[in-house]
Parts: sequence; C-alpha cells; structure tokens
Amino acid sequence: MNVLFVASECAPFVKTGGLADVIGAVPKALGSIGAQVKVMLPAYPALAMHVASGTEVGGFGDLFGGPARLVAAEADGLDLLLLDAPHLFDRPGNIYLDQNGKDWFDNHLRFGGLCFAAAQVAQHGAAGWRPDLVNAHDWQAGLVPAYLRQTGVTPPPVVMTIHNIAFQGLFPQDVLEVLRLDRRLFTPDALEFYGQLGFLKSGLALCDAITTVSPTYARELLTPDFGMGLEGLLQERQKDLTGILNGIDVEIWNPETDPHLAKPYGLRSLKSKAANKTALRKRFGLEAAVAGPLFCVISRLTTQKGLDLLVDCLPDLVAEDAQLALLGSGEGWMEQAFAEAATRFPGRVGTIIGYDEPLSHLMQGGSDAILIPSRFEPCGLTQLYGLRYGTLPVVARTGGLADTVIDANEAALTANCATGLQFAPATAERLRQAIVRTCALYRDQKTWAGMMRRAMRHPVGWDGSAAAYAAVYDRLLPAR
Ligand code: ADP
Ligand code: GLC
Repeated sequence: MNVLFVASECAPFVKTGGLADVIGAVPKALGSIGAQVKVMLPAYPALAMHVASGTEVGGFGDLFGGPARLVAAEADGLDLLLLDAPHLFDRPGNIYLDQNGKDWFDNHLRFGGLCFAAAQVAQHGAAGWRPDLVNAHDWQAGLVPAYLRQTGVTPPPVVMTIHNIAFQGLFPQDVLEVLRLDRRLFTPDALEFYGQLGFLKSGLALCDAITTVSPTYARELLTPDFGMGLEGLLQERQKDLTGILNGIDVEIWNPETDPHLAKPYGLRSLKSKAANKTALRKRFGLEAAVAGPLFCVISRLTTQKGLDLLVDCLPDLVAEDAQLALLGSGEGWMEQAFAEAATRFPGRVGTIIGYDEPLSHLMQGGSDAILIPSRFEPCGLTQLYGLRYGTLPVVARTGGLADTVIDANEAALTANCATGLQFAPATAERLRQAIVRTCALYRDQKTWAGMMRRAMRHPVGWDGSAAAYAAVYDRLLPAR
C-alpha cells in the first residue's frame, strides 16, 4: 500500500511540537508492516541540504505567486517529497510565525500551496510512484480533499488526522479566488466555517475517514468543551472517527543508549539514573541535598498546557521539599512568572526559557517525575518519554494523558499496576493535591521504585498504533 503523508513539520528536520515527532515516526512503523509512505513537506531552510541532494520529480509554473519544484529525497530513514517554493517557505525563524510572533501574513498561500501540490501528487503521482491513499495532518493539510474534490477524476481516499483541534486555519472568504477554490464549495457542509474559509473544517467535512491521536480525545471532541465549534460536524461523522494513540520512537528515546544523558541506565541499572539527576541539578542551579522528588516540565507555555496552574502551586511544591526544573517557551507572562520563581526559590526552582532538544533528554533522564497539568491534551508525548525513562508522569486526566498513565490509587497500588498519577479537573487546587500525593509516594521508596519499573515496561512504541492506522486505511481501499 502506498501512502502519501502531508504535513507541515517532521522530526528531526523541523519541529515545533509533537506533530513533528509523530510524522517522523509513523512512516517507519507503517513501513515495517508493509506500507510505503512518502512524507510531503514544505522545503523550509532547515531542509535545504536535502533539496540540494535530492532529485527533481515535478514542478509548478506558478504556485500562488511563484514557481515551485517538487524534490524527492531520502533522509533519516524517511522518503521525503519536498515542496521547494522559495516565495512561500524560504524564510528565517519560526515556520508559522513572523519576527513579531504573528502568523505569517500569507499562511493561507503557504499551506494552501502545500495542499494544492499534494492533491496533484495524489492524482498523478510523482516519478512513477502513486499513492493509494492520502493521510493529511492538521489544518495545514486540510485543503487536500477540497482540491481533490474539484478535479472531477476519481481521487484516492483521504484520511484527516486531528492532532490539535485548537488550530483550525481560519481565513476570510475573499482568499478563495487566489487559492483557486471553487466558490460552489463554500457551503456549511464543505469549506465554510461561520462565514470564513476553514482549512481543518473543510478537511473534516470532505475527507473519507478521520483519526485523532487518542481514544479519549476522540470522545472529548464530540463535546462543546473540547470540539471548539467542530463538535457538531464530528458528531455527524462519528462512525468515521477513530482515536489511535500516539507512540514514540523507542530508539531515539532509549535511556540505555541516549547520547544526551550523563550516564545511560535501564531496568537492570536503575541506580545510574542518579548521575543524571546530579547533572540536571547542576544545569539548572538546583541544590544537591534535597530529600523530595525533582519534578520537571518540558513544554510549550500556553493555556492548553495548564502551566499557569503550576505557578500557583510552587510555594507548596517547595514546602514539600521538592524541586522543579522547567524548560519551555511560549506566552510572555508565563515565561516571566517562571523566571521570577527561579529567583524567588533559589536552589529549588530552576527555569530555562527556550527550546533545547538535547536538554529535554537529560531532563527525562534526571528527573523523578514530569508534570503535565494540561487543560486538554490530544495525546501528549512527554508523558510517554517519562514512562520510558522511569520519570513518573503526574498528569491531568484528559485526552491521551488519561489513556497512557495508570493512576496510583489504592486499587492500582494493590494490583501493582500504577505508573504515575492523575488528577481532575485541571485546577490549581487539584494539581497541588497531586504534587503533595506524589511527594508522599516518593517518600515510600520501595513503592516508588516498583512504579518506575512498571512505567519503564509500559509499551510506548508504535507497533499497535501503526497496525491501527493500517486498519483504517484498509477499510477505505478496495480489497487487494
Ligand atoms: P505539543 O505538540 O502539544 O506541544 P506534545 O507533548 O505532543 O505536545 O509534544 C511536544 C514535543 O515537543 C515533545 O517532543 C517535547 O519533548 C518537545 N518540547 C516541548 N517544549 C520543548 C522545549 N522547550 N525544548 C525541547 N523540547 C520541547
Ligand atoms: C498536538 C497535541 C499533542 C499531540 C501532538 C502529536 O500538538 O497538542 O497532544 O501529542 O499533536 O499528535
């Protein structure tokens, strides 16, 4: 089966969040069960090297304001189709935002261009390769089904995957023309979302099947609290909606071989984790002789992630003799609040504002627990890294967090199956209680060590989920 992935980011080349990790990992997992996946991406500057060494397999005289080439390249075990359109993608800095932190003024052209080009590949193939099916990811790929619908020939089926419904790609309807979209599709059952053009909305309305990244989020999306205005459409399409849990790349995220750790460790050498804690404390300027657990946070600092709640809990965390190492960036006021907390609680709270992939590995290796108090979380990956590294996740019970962490309640402790802690709802008070509960568990080192071992054995790879994607694809394809 040939599958075309269409997405706006892909690890290890270009990443702003978990979407990139997933796009970098699923094709390999699908490959190992017999599918051939090509990943179509914009050729941002970070991919220039692969464009230079790749092979031109197609082109467009005018892709929304300039010429574009399609370049095939192989890198890091992935088959890439790179859309080299300098007028859209050859820009420094963030792939979505300009130097002032605002969406690029022409994001409709940039990602509309990606969708237009992907629809061409979906129909005509590239260099002799034709997809049987397209899997489009998030709003940036949302117009693929619309462009396919417009062409008239029998297009391959499209699966839309929702990684985060909070980002919908809404634009004024007067961009329809420049995007070469047929105005007749501008109706509430196709492209229109309350008078605007909705990239994600139109994808969800016109695709053949929908997946999202956890079973709980698939249910939550049907409610007004989580569906963000699309719950009605999703209710109508409920039979086409499947929640498939994300996995992680267990080779990149392996504490036994991770080159970013101060000392590797595994189930049989758990004691070596301590060397990473020492290194991490040094890196964050934290005191060495503190009895309580070392919590970490590795996150975008946004309201989704609920880290404003943590700001309120810091005095309690410190009073419990615990420590916090936080790495993140995002909303200015939150960055400032955590920077101030590091000054207010020296040696106890350490903050690094920024994005640092190697450091995130050391944090998973060196912390005792990872805090994820999200208000909503389609899946979440950092709790999965935490499980794999024996860094117990303390999570809000929502989305994929609910589906991946087994709370240390009495029943789970008696049955020896707990792998972390959950709390609900996502409020400062409940988070505070969860922190206090974690500290109490940590004082019982035997129970804690048991939980660490179970967490590290919890399956977090892609095997089961890759098969689940393949099953969704199979249902859409004629029997082969
Ligand atoms: P989301 O995609 O909503 O941000 P996920 O948990 O799915 O959340 O994925 C976030 C990914 O980004 C993880 O791989 C995490 O380790 C990484 N990450 C987030 N913030 C940082 C940071 N400041 N530095 C390094 N990695 C980060
Ligand atoms: C989104 C979600 C996150 C999910 C990731 C990958 O960024 O916020 O929960 O893990 O996509 O699917």
